[in-house]
Amino acid sequence: MKNLLSIEELNGEQIRELLALGRKLKEERGRHAAQPLAGQTWALIFSKSSTRTRVSFEVGVSELGGRPMFLSVSDTQLGRGEPVRDTARVLGRMVHGAIIRTYAQSEVQEFAEHSGIPTINALTDQEHPCQILADLLTLEELYGVNSWKSMKIAFMGDTNNNMARSWMWAAKRLGFTLALGGPQHALPSDELLAQLNCPDVVCTTDPVEAVRGATVINTDTWISMGQENEKGSKEKAFFPYQVNRELLSHAAPKHSVFHCLPAYRGYEITDEVLEAHADAIFTEAENRLHAQKAVLCTIAQ
Ligand code: CP
Ligand code: NVA
Repeated sequence: MKNLLSIEELNGEQIRELLALGRKLKEERGRHAAQPLAGQTWALIFSKSSTRTRVSFEVGVSELGGRPMFLSVSDTQLGRGEPVRDTARVLGRMVHGAIIRTYAQSEVQEFAEHSGIPTINALTDQEHPCQILADLLTLEELYGVNSWKSMKIAFMGDTNNNMARSWMWAAKRLGFTLALGGPQHALPSDELLAQLNCPDVVCTTDPVEAVRGATVINTDTWISMGQENEKGSKEKAFFPYQVNRELLSHAAPKHSVFHCLPAYRGYEITDEVLEAHADAIFTEAENRLHAQKAVLCTIAQ
């Protein structure tokens, strides 16, 4: 594995290996002697805001012996229009790897192609692979390796965003049932569903049907980064899909709620539900560090 650009590009075995290594690195944190990134500098090139992704990668690269170098796009020539491929060719001659948060998926692909160095997608409009790996690691911790796959997992709200898409590809690659519940305009397109070609991924506009019997209920912001100007017009249609106590009364009796964070209380999730499920939610955040260290170790080999 040279890059991590999407869950779509991974196969099931690669995902399982990353999760196994993530578990090991979590257990061994502080005692892990290997420094696979020793002498290396990894650039974090971010066009969008971040708390978890930036911190977990800066800490993860450092713990593996490397030096993280944060580059806000607005402070680089990228922000003034220098093409991605030229920036990639420059950085490819100086740093050892790149971790990129941006808008178009094509930008991370272009960077990987022209830089020749390992490249990690730290969120695009299309996918958020690092978060999904952390979420799968959390599922394994909560329910046991593989046993969670027989459970129904639901994703509520904007079921066409980067998180939902990465969940869809994870369902396809690992073979679990994923129910997507959202308003018609926010369901995945027929084109995407045809490309996915996965009968285990089901879509519905009925929020109760989506969560009925589900053991894990996921949600995410209704307004992803870059969509801020749609806030007023988009939000109203999402309220029936809010993860709240009433909706969860239809889920499996012992369910978990997942949220990649940041959360907007009173919108996609209520404060009451977030606080009741804070253990799982903040474990997802912590597991960013362990899952990403597994990615770094794997692609730095
Ligand atoms: N979940 C996630 O990616 O968080 P940040 O936007 O804070 O990095
Ligand atoms: N869908 C969200 C995820 C944030 C981590 C966004 O893209 O803003």
